Amino acid sequence: MKLGVCWYPEQHPESRWADDVRRMAEAGLTLVRLGEFAWAALEPTPGQLDLGWLERAVTTATDAGLRVVLGTPSAAPPRWLIRSHPDIRLVDSDGTARAAGSRRMTCPTAPRYREASAGIVTALVERFGNHPGVVAWQLDNEPGNHDSARCWCAACETAFRAWVAARYGELARLNEAWGTAFWSGQYGSWDEVELPRRSSTVQSPSLLLAHRRFASHQVVDGLTEQRAIIAAGSPGRDILVNTYWDDTFVDARDVHEPAGIAAIDAYPHGVDGPEAYAYLLDLARGSAGPSGRAWVMEQQPGPINWTALNPPVPPGQVRVWGWQAALHGMEASLFFSWRPTRSGQEQYHSGLVRHDGSDDRGLVEAAILARELQAVAAAAPEVLVRPRARVAILHAYEDAWAIEIDPHQAGLTHRSLVQPVHAALHRLGLDADILGPRDDLTDYAIVIAPALHLRTDARLERLRSAMSAGSLVILGPRSLVKDLDDCWLETPLPGGLAAALGGHVVEGLSQTLPVTVVPGDAPAGPWTDVLEVDVADDDPEPVEVLARYGGPSYLAGSIAALRRGDLAYVGASSVEAWTTILTPLLVSRGLPVLPAEVGVERFERGGRRIALDHVALTITGSPAWDPGAA
Ligand code: GAL
Repeated sequence: MKLGVCWYPEQHPESRWADDVRRMAEAGLTLVRLGEFAWAALEPTPGQLDLGWLERAVTTATDAGLRVVLGTPSAAPPRWLIRSHPDIRLVDSDGTARAAGSRRMTCPTAPRYREASAGIVTALVERFGNHPGVVAWQLDNEPGNHDSARCWCAACETAFRAWVAARYGELARLNEAWGTAFWSGQYGSWDEVELPRRSSTVQSPSLLLAHRRFASHQVVDGLTEQRAIIAAGSPGRDILVNTYWDDTFVDARDVHEPAGIAAIDAYPHGVDGPEAYAYLLDLARGSAGPSGRAWVMEQQPGPINWTALNPPVPPGQVRVWGWQAALHGMEASLFFSWRPTRSGQEQYHSGLVRHDGSDDRGLVEAAILARELQAVAAAAPEVLVRPRARVAILHAYEDAWAIEIDPHQAGLTHRSLVQPVHAALHRLGLDADILGPRDDLTDYAIVIAPALHLRTDARLERLRSAMSAGSLVILGPRSLVKDLDDCWLETPLPGGLAAALGGHVVEGLSQTLPVTVVPGDAPAGPWTDVLEVDVADDDPEPVEVLARYGGPSYLAGSIAALRRGDLAYVGASSVEAWTTILTPLLVSRGLPVLPAEVGVERFERGGRRIALDHVALTITGSPAWDPGAA
């Protein structure tokens, strides 16, 4: 894994640059990202470009031995552009247009914003497209972040109406698909199709889901325009987009897959602990498509500024975060950022050096990490190769959107349903590949669909093919419950697979009772589906009850999980319940189960067993291995 750093030369005097890049290179960093918020410095007045300073910065960095990732600056347009074209501002659901002075305040559809973005990207490509020091590009910055994919402006409304009309063709079909008879929601003409504005209570889930899809599509469309310009003018370079790793504002798979490489911004203090970090790293690889290539484009280097508490980062933590990324197969990791600024919105955000320019602990640990990674790459490169897993976890942003729109329990998200499965597998010492709707499922011993909420024929077919090819398919709670328009199915659940399962869901509960899972007595989790068996005991393919609910409630004794042949259904949702229920299923498929202590992540890499202790902040290996001594 290569290491690098995000650098903002436009925010610092030029007299500092040479020293900055020299120290980066001395620390063992090889990549530097720059330019992604510098539009106003690059085009100070309309059409008047000033690319000279950027060229000097790129040259200074490459002269120091660094390789450059050049950002396109469309996330932070200059004030003059917003002044002269106020209609490019993003309009929120209450009708307020976002003001200049921040970032991600533009409408993803606005034609003038798209044109202006294409203009500055073209200028950058003409100047730097064949620069030998530029090895990669980054498009935009965290598209969708700050809830910037959905916009309620007039241009978006017109485009949305056309998008809906193209998708449904006839009004009658739209009314049927969205079930608009509910609360007199029938559309009598296409003009009545409006964006989901704030009303007295929530808007139709079908409309909300359509808006999420449309918004993501508009963002991806804008990125595609930028990518085409760069691909034509800067051949041979990777063109990445850095999505914020926990965002669901856009379908990150649609963003990354066309480039065959994903990039995420990783701030472990923005999510809940190392298991979330592990999950999001594997999700990044899975978002790239078959290549599995992924970078961490921004890595937390110390305390950050934007969570509620922004806690301290103990010594050793930055190194361990780096190793975690490496063991999850990241190709590169760039710290955010080199030096905190004295001005602006992120003054409390640490960098690798301090405000006064002296080395911060992040730099010391980055240098240690760089040395260790180089030594391991030379002595035991197989340790840094993430093998293909034997277990696949299915993930789709459409399910995430549907669950966010109608979670049944406040705060419940798609991640809170999928991550426990990933965490359970990790606690049992197994890697898991997180795959999207287009990925190949061949050769996975087990395919788990923990939150496959929406049913389509294609999804059913995919699961059936996996079973025919010999995989065990395991569904999680609320699987195959609604159709693609977020309307409930009127068949036994899981929709389309109840007959094969030989059982069905009788209650899908937002759980507030003290319900456990037996065996094991683990808490059942926030979503619990209660199952019933439909086939007789002497059926040629009988149903096996894998777990029941326990605890002092009416649910005690009812079925929590069952299996029939190559299909299983787990109604519980906690990581502990998944760990208990998965263990015998993994063993039955011949997978090596090796439970780890809490807080310790285990990896099998190149014949070694590596333990990353997230509490003690150590890395050890068996046979004996110490990257510090490598
Ligand atoms: C990221 C963003 C960076 C910076 C960072 C601070 O989400 O891409 O530009 O704001 O957060 O943690």
